Amino acid sequence: MSSAERAASLLLEIEPEEFRVLHALELGMAKFSFVPLDELVKYSGLNLGEVEFRLRELDRKDLLYRQPAPYLGYILNYTGYDCLALNALAKADILNSLGMSLGVGKEADIFEAITDDDDRVAVKFHRLGRTSFRDTRKKRGYIAQRGHVSWHYQSRIAAEKEFEAMRRVHEAKVSVPEPIYQNRHVVVMGYIDGYNLIDVAVLDDPDGFLDDILENIRRTYDAGMIHCDLSSYNIVVQKNGEVLLIDWPQSEPTDHPNAESLLVRDLENVLDYFRRKFGVERSLQETAAFVKARSGPPSLQ
Ligand SMILES: Nc1ncnc2c1ncn2[C@@H]1O[C@H](COP(=O)(O)OP(=O)(O)OP(=O)(O)O)[C@@H](O)[C@H]1O
Ligand SMILES: [Mg+2]
Repeated sequence: MSSAERAASLLLEIEPEEFRVLHALELGMAKFSFVPLDELVKYSGLNLGEVEFRLRELDRKDLLYRQPAPYLGYILNYTGYDCLALNALAKADILNSLGMSLGVGKEADIFEAITDDDDRVAVKFHRLGRTSFRDTRKKRGYIAQRGHVSWHYQSRIAAEKEFEAMRRVHEAKVSVPEPIYQNRHVVVMGYIDGYNLIDVAVLDDPDGFLDDILENIRRTYDAGMIHCDLSSYNIVVQKNGEVLLIDWPQSEPTDHPNAESLLVRDLENVLDYFRRKFGVERSLQETAAFVKARSGPPSLQ
């Protein structure tokens, strides 16, 4: 079972005092690579005996790591962090239940889920630093030496960045899943039925589909953003044949110092792919000019 699935299945078993200790761990992790007991007492407002008891329970549920030396300290693991996020989503009446996995990647796990209104949504758990975090299980000292392993911080930043970018471009009528909610390292968005372009062997109208992609890149640019990770993996062909752009945590604003090369790299990826796979030829220069041409009301001059 994946971390998020385990978190979802444990959620109802976690007692309020255990949540207080999970919250205390989260707070402490901003400051400590392993959070000492007395800090947990301070942050949780529980007494030492209670904190120790709750830590044992959380350890039994495998929601934390315990560092015995050089000083006794604790951190959340991914499942512990998932529990905090899922609990917040449930409390905010966003999520009702977590469903099937839609994809397990290097830096994110994505699941189907059902909202309180019975809508189907996609829930993306950002997992930055997952590789080094796994290593730490074997070599415990490693985490402490690196300062706070900021896996949870990095993952939260990625989720915030993705959600904000999606909000901004969604507003600008770029075809993206509807951004619904974000908490910690988790983004909730509209569920989209379709195929990743990389898995699509035949397009009815490759030229038209490419035009569609470029129009969406143009609107993105017009909204002040560049996707920065555009490839056939992050372009979806929806069941109705329309384009959808996904996976936004790496996006940057158009006033980024490397904006030009970031945009060109996205465009090259897309144009190369269409040239190789569908034999569609486009000039990079003209495409870049099209994307950068401001839309909006025509000038009166
Ligand atoms: N809103 C959605 N609705 C349905 N499926 C989705 C949605 N968002 C993502 N997916 C599926 O999950 C996959 C991974 O999503 P995404 O590209 O956002 O994450 P990722 O960061 O690429 O993960 P990885 O670490 O593999 O790179 C997508 O290729 C797609 O198949
Ligand atoms: Mg992706």
